[in-house]
Amino acid sequence: MTDPMVTVVDHPLVEHKLSLMRSIETPTGDFRRLAREISLLMGYEVLRDLKVQPVDIQTPMEPMTARQVSGKKLCFISILRAGDGILGGMIDLVPSARIGHIGLYRDPVSHTPIEYYFKVPEDMAERLTVVVDPMLATGHSAEAAITRLKRAGASAIKFVCLIAAPEGVAVLRRGHPDVAIFAAAIDRELDEHAYIRPGLGDAGDRLFGTK
Ligand code: URA
Repeated sequence: MTDPMVTVVDHPLVEHKLSLMRSIETPTGDFRRLAREISLLMGYEVLRDLKVQPVDIQTPMEPMTARQVSGKKLCFISILRAGDGILGGMIDLVPSARIGHIGLYRDPVSHTPIEYYFKVPEDMAERLTVVVDPMLATGHSAEAAITRLKRAGASAIKFVCLIAAPEGVAVLRRGHPDVAIFAAAIDRELDEHAYIRPGLGDAGDRLFGTK
């Protein structure tokens, strides 16, 4: 059964660019550029329901009533560090959006996500919040990040990733059924090291050339 809260952004350009990102042959610079390009294309879909309002303007030819985005203000939240790789495309689309960052690491004993950084705008309750992280693997970081954002006042939240594992989608849907998930692809499975298969490897390392 299809879940209306889970959208796989189905577009030939997204699929093509994601295939290039998956390839082990793709160097860091291209990988980074492709991540930004896919996030631009996905942002178009993620922000499809932004409200517009009429505004009176003057074209060089005549006055007209045009329509511009109104309503809720936007906030993009990057889950560090790989989230920064798909943040740029979103900011290109909405340059006035506020930006927040959340840093989490996995406790080596309990395997639970521990927060080491949290900086978001004060008025989260008034904003549409779009959380970005390229890989939705176990789903535990995304779940913890969104729990923390709700504690900070956020209520209208969307989650955007490039590749999701079915396991991560299930965890996030269970933990936050109100949060819509957008992915460029949902892959086969997680492996025993919590990497997505076939996936694209470690998104952070490939974005920042740290391996
Ligand atoms: N994080 C990654 O960067 N890659 C995976 O496959 C899973 C988590």
